[in-house]
Amino acid sequence: MAKKPPVYKNYIDGKWVASATGKTFPNVNPADTDDVIGYFQDSDERDVNAAVAAAKAAFEKWRLVPAPKRAELVMKLGLWLKENKEALARDATREMGKVLAETRGDVQEGIDCSLFWAGEGRRMYGETTPSELPNKFAMTVRQPIGVCALITPWNFPMAIPTWKMMPALVCGNTVVIKPATLTPLSVWNLVRGAEEVGFPKGVINYVTGSGRKVGNPLCEHPDVSLVSFTGSTEVGRQINLACAKDFKRVGLEMGGKNAVIVMDDADLELAVDGVLWGAFGTTGQRCTATSRCLVQRGVYKKFLDALVKRAKALKVGNGLDESTEMGPAVDASQLQTDLDYVAIGKKEGAKLLCGGKRLTGKKYDKGFFMEPTVFADVKPTMRIFREEIFGPVLSVVPFQTFEEAVALQNDCAYGLSGSIYTRDVNLAFRAMRDVHTGLFYVNAPTIGAENHLPFGGVKQTGNGHREGGKEALDLFSEWKAIYVDFSGTLQRAQIDTDRIVKVE
Ligand code: UN1
Repeated sequence: MAKKPPVYKNYIDGKWVASATGKTFPNVNPADTDDVIGYFQDSDERDVNAAVAAAKAAFEKWRLVPAPKRAELVMKLGLWLKENKEALARDATREMGKVLAETRGDVQEGIDCSLFWAGEGRRMYGETTPSELPNKFAMTVRQPIGVCALITPWNFPMAIPTWKMMPALVCGNTVVIKPATLTPLSVWNLVRGAEEVGFPKGVINYVTGSGRKVGNPLCEHPDVSLVSFTGSTEVGRQINLACAKDFKRVGLEMGGKNAVIVMDDADLELAVDGVLWGAFGTTGQRCTATSRCLVQRGVYKKFLDALVKRAKALKVGNGLDESTEMGPAVDASQLQTDLDYVAIGKKEGAKLLCGGKRLTGKKYDKGFFMEPTVFADVKPTMRIFREEIFGPVLSVVPFQTFEEAVALQNDCAYGLSGSIYTRDVNLAFRAMRDVHTGLFYVNAPTIGAENHLPFGGVKQTGNGHREGGKEALDLFSEWKAIYVDFSGTLQRAQIDTDRIVKVE
C-alpha cells in the first residue's frame, strides 16, 4: 500500500502548529496527480493573527541583534540549502513540475541570495556628511521596518522566498511568509532549515493557505508594516490598494510580456537556442519568460524554420526524469489558460506553426502537459501579443526596421525583461537605452537574472522597488537621518549659519 502523505504544519513563534481551522489542503504533483505530496494547513485569520503577534514580539529583540550576527544566521541557512540542494530540488520539481536541472538552479539562486545577504550584513552602509553648522555631526543609518508579510509565488518556490526573506532578516525585520498554495513544501523546507540553523523563535513564521483567507488578513493587519508580493498584476493591484489606506510599504513583482528582437545580422543559431530556452524553459512559467519574438524580415523564415524544428523536438514529460526538457503546466487551471490562449490566437488569425495541444497517452494523462507552441505572423493588436499567458506559447512577429522593433518591444503594458540578438554594437547600445524594461539582455534570452543585480520591472510589472542586489535594502529598510550637536549651544539650522561661521 502506498505510504500516506504527511501532514505539514504552520510554524509560529518557533513551534509547528496546526491551523485553528483544523482543515488541510493537498499538495499535488502536476506531472502525476496520483502523487499527493502532503497536506498543508488551510489556515485563516486566526493563524495570521498568531503569526503576526509572534513576529511583532520577536522584532523587539531581533532588531537589536547586530546586523553581522543576523547575517551569520542567513549564511548558515544558505549553507544548509547548499548541503541539501539535491533533495530540495527534487521536492520542488515534485510540487511544481519544472525539470530537475531548473529546480537545482532555483535552489542555487536561493544559496546565492543567502550568501550575498550574509555579506551585506557587514555593509548596509549609511553616509556621513558635513553639517552646515560647526560642532555638529550628520549621518544616515538604515533601520528595520517591522513585521514583513512575504507572499511568494509557485514558479520559483525556493529562490523567490529567499529573495524576500534574506534581505528582510538582515535588515532586522521579522517575517510572516505565506507561500503559494501550489508550492508550500519548498518554503516549509526553507523554514525547517531556518529552525535547524537556530533562528530565534518568532523571527520567521510560516502560514499556509489561500490568498483570500491568509493573504488578505496579512495585508490588512495593522501590525504588518510591509508586504512583499510576487505574482499576477491583478492580485498585486488588490494588495497595493489594500495597503494604501494604512500607507504600508509594498514591494510588487508582477506580470511580464517579454520580447526578444532578432536582427538580420544576428548569430541565428544562438538566437534560436536563446528563444527556445526563454520561451519553453520552466514551461514558459517565468515572469521573465520570452513570450514575444520580433524577427527582422530578412531572416524571418529561416529563423522560424529552425525554431519550429527545435520546438517540436523538445522532450516533454515528468521533470524528475533527467532527460525531460519541458515539464507540465503547474495545474489544471494554468493548462486551461494556455489552451484558451491557443484558441484565442487561432481565432485572431495568427498562424499556428507547431504545438497547441494538450498531450495525451499513458505518459501524460495524469499530468498537465502540453506541446511547446509557436504562433507566427502575430499582429500587435492580438491578445496573444499583449496579454501574459504564463505558458509555453510563443508569439512571433516580423518587422522591417530596428526602430519598428523597439516600438513593438515597448508596445506593452508590462516592462520586466527584454533582449536583442545582433552583432551590431551600435544597435545593441541603442536597444539597451531605448527598450523600456527593468532587465535587458544582449545576445541572451529574457531569462537568467543573477541575484546580486537589482531585479524588477517598469510599467505594470512593478511599483518601483527592486529585489536582488543591494537595491533590495531600499525596500526592506527605512532611512533615518541623525544629527549630533556637540557645540553645547543652541544652533538653529538655516538661521544661525551666517552668524556663526565667519571665514576670515
Ligand atoms: C521569475 O521569472 O519569476 O531571471 C523569476 C530569471 C530567474 C528568476 C526569474 N533568475 O529568469
